[in-house]
Amino acid sequence: MALIRLTGHLICASAAERQAVLCHLPAHIAATVREPGCLFFDIAQTADPMVWSVSEGFATQADFDAHQARASTSPWAAATRAIKRVYEMGVAEPEISPETDADIAPIDRLTRAAFGGPDEAELIAQLRTQGDLALSLVARLGRTVLGHVAFSPLSAPMKAWALAPVSVRTACRRQGIGAALIRAGLESARAQGVEAVLVLGDPAYYGRFGFSAKAAQALRTPYDGPYLQALSLSGTARLPAGDITYPPAFAVL
Ligand SMILES: CC(C)(COP(=O)(O)OP(=O)(O)OC[C@H]1O[C@@H](n2cnc3c(N)ncnc32)[C@H](O)[C@@H]1OP(=O)(O)O)[C@@H](O)C(=O)NCCC(=O)NCCS
Repeated sequence: MALIRLTGHLICASAAERQAVLCHLPAHIAATVREPGCLFFDIAQTADPMVWSVSEGFATQADFDAHQARASTSPWAAATRAIKRVYEMGVAEPEISPETDADIAPIDRLTRAAFGGPDEAELIAQLRTQGDLALSLVARLGRTVLGHVAFSPLSAPMKAWALAPVSVRTACRRQGIGAALIRAGLESARAQGVEAVLVLGDPAYYGRFGFSAKAAQALRTPYDGPYLQALSLSGTARLPAGDITYPPAFAVL
């Protein structure tokens, strides 16, 4: 993964430097958060009025470089070039953990943007309201949600979950965040005694996790066809035949 994280301090040595920060910082922040690769850009005055704490996250090194190039010719750079900066910068990995209340709105925004419409976001909201969100994991850098995956319980001849939906912020794709979320979810499912996970999606993507249409062949679901795939977590290659019923929230799709 190649997320970029920068933390540190901006330290003014005079009232004039402090005034330059106060004057130019709001426009600098506003321009930076509009950059597509900026994940967060938190610059806040500390208890010391001459010192600002800095915490920045960018989706890739290229996004960080583009930010530096733009900012280097901005009024902010011209006014604050001489101010002391003590920064640490490096590659960061997202943290994967169960959703909290603070994640609900970011998950909703992320899912609407990823799918270009409201259906999948409404599915998640209804699963949550109806007590059918068996597992909801987010990938985060700092406080910013970069990706999300949901699992819900199925009525089936074995203990089974549905995986749906999964989404990753556009700027952060192709770094393995989707795969890390799915693998963490499957691990948790296995630990909770789930014997099978079903997914409806592109076999080219889900095949890498072991899902196959063949494993789902004996199951009867509302979504039968080449996009319905299953993964046995119990070690048996063939899942028992039978009817699968999805939680009522899936009616929105
Ligand atoms: C699908 C999604 C979650 C993958 O997230 P991600 O963090 O980029 O995934 P990873 O980095 O783990 O994997 C990226 C790989 O998946 C492939 N991939 C992504 N979406 C794919 C799709 N719909 N079909 C086939 N392959 C896909 C990419 O081409 C890439 O392939 P590579 O590893 O050979 O380069 C993300 O693209 C997304 O949010 N898409 C919009 C929502 C969506 O379609 N969700 C899935 C519904 S089935």
